[in-house]
Amino acid sequence: MRRKIAAGNWKMNGLKASLAEVEALKPVCTGECDVILCPPATLVAAMAEVAKGANITVGGQDCHWNESGAHTGDIAAEMLADAGAGAVILGHSERRADHCETDMMVHNKALAAWRAGLQAIICVGETEAERDAGTTLDIIGGQLAGSTPDGATAENTVIAYEPVWAIGTGRTPTLEEIAEVHDFLRGRLVERFGLDGEGFRLLYGGSVKPGNAAEIFAVSNVDGGLVGGASLKASDFSGIIQAANG
Ligand code: PGA
Repeated sequence: MRRKIAAGNWKMNGLKASLAEVEALKPVCTGECDVILCPPATLVAAMAEVAKGANITVGGQDCHWNESGAHTGDIAAEMLADAGAGAVILGHSERRADHCETDMMVHNKALAAWRAGLQAIICVGETEAERDAGTTLDIIGGQLAGSTPDGATAENTVIAYEPVWAIGTGRTPTLEEIAEVHDFLRGRLVERFGLDGEGFRLLYGGSVKPGNAAEIFAVSNVDGGLVGGASLKASDFSGIIQAANG
């Protein structure tokens, strides 16, 4: 039985005043599911303070593969851990597109995350053109293999399937399409990691809302969601956490 995850990705949103949303989430963070909130790096330490004692893990949205050094603007996994993070999103499609991140870079970032004791949330997902061309599973399979290092376990790694065309668009795949990709991911993980592959949590991401979360989380091999827009307001995200609570 895999424990569900409700993960929020605040992206480039949030100021100190936004931490009131975290306080407001606490009543629904009752421990039935894992709640992970990934604010911009500027808020990681302050959010970790607010989240203390609650069932909320704070995460980063990216990290560098090196521990320190001359990398202006980058953040090391060790720095996120030092600020109170317990997880980090890696290879989000916005990073892959805006910062030309390759599977190999994501792979190296995952190694860095583990080195610092962070859980790596590795994202994969096809573009609309790739889906239209019928290459979705090839793309997903390639990203999964290339971005996930040997040494991944059900504890140190979570995989998020986020179709690029569903992110921030209000469009979601059908439940059958979500099931197809998640079943495929499960198969690949079991093929590569044996029995442990059964334990990895697989998140769906892309226009998850309070109104569709329960039906998406009920799909086989969907172990929760990675949520962008609807994670910014406690009034929305609490409904999604409750769906993950079951
Ligand atoms: P969205 O974003 O929920 O706003 O579609 C999801 C994501 O990019 O993680």
